[in-house]
Amino acid sequence: MVKATTMLAVFGAGSIWITPAVAADPQYVRSIAATCFTCHGTDGRSVGGVPPSLAGQNKDYLLKQLQEFRDGKRPATIMHQHAKGYTDEQLNLIAGYFAAVIPGQAAAAPVVK
Ligand code: HEC
Repeated sequence: MVKATTMLAVFGAGSIWITPAVAADPQYVRSIAATCFTCHGTDGRSVGGVPPSLAGQNKDYLLKQLQEFRDGKRPATIMHQHAKGYTDEQLNLIAGYFAAVIPGQAAAAPVVK
């Protein structure tokens, strides 16, 4: 039988290892991801696919594109400018945010009467 202290040690070590990903405040992550919503749609579900939806996209793919835009390796009209405003850690959080969104239709605009 595994002793409780041993299990604590194992879980304790595990939580230290994964702390950076877990520690990010979800409100903070959403607020930096929200800077993309204007063009890519709320939560990255774009209207009509232009610019492309980010929702549910592969995280590694998103991060690589953002870094390549920022570093001038991928030509762009807008994204090379926009991507320059973030640190690697922020780009990582943003990529993770959109990767975790379930892809789907953009929400319809509310009807104002
Ligand atoms: C002002 C509008 C605008 C904003 C804001 C914007 N984008 Fe973009 N995005 C575009 C356009 C336009 C493209 C097509 C490439 C280009 O010409 O810049 C694009 C392309 C991309 C691509 C490539 C998609 C693919 O399928 O390869 C990614 C990834 C991306 N944007 C992520 C983001 C993220 C993340 C943010 C927020 C940090 C963001 N964009 C903010 C307009 C925008």
